[in-house]
Amino acid sequence: MAEAAGGSAHAARAADTASRMAEVFTRTFGYDPEGVWAAPGRINLIGEHTDYSDGFVLPFALPHTLHAAAAPRADGAVRLRSLQAPEGDGFGVADLAPGSVEGWAAYPAGALWVLRQEGYRVDGLDLLVDSAIPSGAGLSSSAALSCAAVMAGAAVHGADPSASQVIRMARRVENDFVGMPCGVLDQSASMLSAEGHALFMDTRTMETEQVPFAPDRQGMTVLVVDTRAPHRLVEGHYADRHRACQEAAKELGVAALRDVTDLEAALAALASSELRRRVRHVVTENGRVLDTVDHLRAGRLRDVGPLLTASHMSLRDDYEVTVPEVDTAVRALLSAGALGARITGGGFGGCVIALVERERVEACGRAVEEAYREEGFAAPSLFEAAPSAGARRLR
Ligand code: GLA
Repeated sequence: MAEAAGGSAHAARAADTASRMAEVFTRTFGYDPEGVWAAPGRINLIGEHTDYSDGFVLPFALPHTLHAAAAPRADGAVRLRSLQAPEGDGFGVADLAPGSVEGWAAYPAGALWVLRQEGYRVDGLDLLVDSAIPSGAGLSSSAALSCAAVMAGAAVHGADPSASQVIRMARRVENDFVGMPCGVLDQSASMLSAEGHALFMDTRTMETEQVPFAPDRQGMTVLVVDTRAPHRLVEGHYADRHRACQEAAKELGVAALRDVTDLEAALAALASSELRRRVRHVVTENGRVLDTVDHLRAGRLRDVGPLLTASHMSLRDDYEVTVPEVDTAVRALLSAGALGARITGGGFGGCVIALVERERVEACGRAVEEAYREEGFAAPSLFEAAPSAGARRLR
């Protein structure tokens, strides 16, 4: 009964959101939209910087969602409006080319470009976006935008790509239009997540499993610290790590670092100490994902904590993607009794997550705020994240 009541409350909220989006679209463009879509941001529980080495990931969707309302245009024009950002405008769908659009508008523009590249008929589009996903925080606001724009752009022109086609095209938006050489983690998390679950995914085969993950049922929560440290992935560091992994795989004679089975032998075979550190992270992180999944399947949530912390240490020392704000948050959370804590997402800023017992949540939050004051960092923002539903069409 409770489930059914919860389900209909969800449905009512979704219908409200869809009508509100439709109203704003009509006010903005002067006619009604053809559809409304939702795509959430994500937290990666564990499995960081493994997806471009064909490895394992375990993300879940945030309740923070991006909504998009759209209608096709016959004249080839693209009009993009966001309730959070200046308008992106003034281009025709036929003139789109990689690098031709900047800022947030590059993602929906890229979505139209990719759709056309892949043979979908796209004449033009009016698109309104309203996002509750903090941007620049490593929570995949841009992947959510790309997924929503691919779904909307295809659907208003009468096409209905599968979730895996949307994931592939949304990744191409980043790789081929924006120039960010990301893997499939973010797009998959946004498209495929299910409420109360984490999404275990093999990024080589794209096989997935919904693993029950509902910390609240065991008196725990995932506390998220948005460090507000500036986070700039497109600017080089991420691409450097990607290149290092490819270089190491080539030296080791494997298709991807996923294929390294004997870590000690691989480390002995690499001359560069930098490559050795990168490889050690990827290989041990894949192992931690598998161990985390085992614990979750067996309901041993507490045992996941130490794996999160080990992942952080590996990302700090071997992969070198942390910054002082992030390390300070992890230290403070652990000293205040968090079961485990780690950076999440691409790094170089962004968010930290901690698995925390309900009665420690306040103490953990206070510890982070105090540590930030002492270090002179800007105040962080804190919230709890319940594993939520993936992307869907609302009307
Ligand atoms: C970013 C990328 C993902 C993934 C993570 C690190 O979020 O978009 O593909 O590589 O970093 O795990």
